[in-house]
Parts: sequence; structure tokens; C-alpha cells
Amino acid sequence: MVSLISPTLPILFWLILHQSSSISTIVSADSDIIIDTCNRCASSDPNVNYTLCVTSLESVLQASQSDLEGLAIISVRLAKSNMTQAKSKVKNLLKAESLDPYVESCLETCRELYSNSIADLKDSVKAIKSSRYNDANILISSAVDVPRTCEDGFDEGGLQSPLSKENDELFGLVVIALAITSLVG
Ligand SMILES: *[C@@H]1O[C@H](CO)[C@@H](O)[C@H](O)[C@H]1NC(C)=O
Ligand SMILES: *[C@@H]1O[C@H](CO)[C@@H](O)[C@H](O)[C@H]1NC(C)=O
Repeated sequence: MVSLISPTLPILFWLILHQSSSISTIVSADSDIIIDTCNRCASSDPNVNYTLCVTSLESVLQASQSDLEGLAIISVRLAKSNMTQAKSKVKNLLKAESLDPYVESCLETCRELYSNSIADLKDSVKAIKSSRYNDANILISSAVDVPRTCEDGFDEGGLQSPLSKENDELFGLVVIALAITSLVG
């Protein structure tokens, strides 16, 4: 009996120590508004990429000092600025000479979708600031579909989208903005 217990005791102690240190890590992380908010978003929406949530919010200096509403505004602005980057990529692609007419029409569609969504996201910031959270949700929700709709055009033509990387990131950021805004309302 004794010979059985004694070698396992250090392991037990290690387990207890390890366990308590990981618990304290979780507790201190929970007091961080970014980690806490991203955790809540990721558990409420399977489309939320926790890593992207944390890294994108942490890239904004004032984010860790914000309240939930502040984080919602920051996340919408991140999505909006990413959409603006995607839109400028489309503009560049449209400048190419001898574009296939089908590809051109897809790109035009994406550009229009992005433009409308950028306006929606801008309006959603105003809505959040004036506590019209439901309006903000509706505006951001319509932006969630944009990356997919843009991709659909290329898919239907059996073409590789030149914007799939942008649309993936964009979708990730819009979903995060929607999830955080939903927590505020
Ligand atoms: C989540 O986001 C990170 C950081 O942008 C990225 O590296 C990773 O591939 C993403 N994961 C999924 C499942 O999309
Ligand atoms: C935003 O968009 C650009 C290009 O579309 C991408 O390279 C960048 O990593 C994106 N992500 C963030 C968080 O801005």
C-alpha cells in the first residue's frame, strides 16, 4: 500500500499546484475586459474566433480601458476599417486591363456591397452612441452577409475569388462586432 501511495503523492501535489495556478490565471484573465468579452462572445456565437477577437481588440490602445459599449464601438470600427481596406483592394482589381466581364461584374457587386456596408457600420456607431442597440444590431447584421454574398458571385462562376482572404477576415471581424454589440443591448 505504502509503496503504491508514495510515488503518487508528488504527482498529486503537482496536480493540485498546477490546478490552482491555472485557476488563478483564469481569474486574473477574467478581470480583463477584452478577454472576458471575447470569452462571452465566443461561447454565445460559434462563428466568433476568440483569437481574432482578442488580438484585434488588443491592437487598439484604449480598448483595455473601455467599458462594454466602448468595446462594441471599437469592434465596429475595426470591421469598418477592414471593409474599407477590402474596398480599396477591389478598386485596384477593377483597374486591371482586359478584365473578364464576368469577373468585373462580380467585383462591381462586391464594391457596392462594401460601400453600403461601410455606411451601415458608420450608422451603427451612431446608433450605439445613442443607445439604440437594436438599430445597431440590425445594421451590423446586414454587414455579416456581405463577405459571403461577395464570394457567391465568384463561386457561381466556378472561379477562385481574388478576395477570399479579405472576406474571411472581414466576416470574422463583423461577427465579433455583432456579438459584442448584442452583449451591450
Ligand atoms: C482565428 O483567428 C486567428 C488570428 O487571426 C487565425 O490565425 C486563425 O486561423 C483563425 N481561426 C479560424 C478557425 O478561423
Ligand atoms: C483587415 O484587412 C486586411 C486586408 O483586407 C488584412 O490584411 C488585415 O490583416 C485585416 N485585419 C485587421 C484586423 O485589420
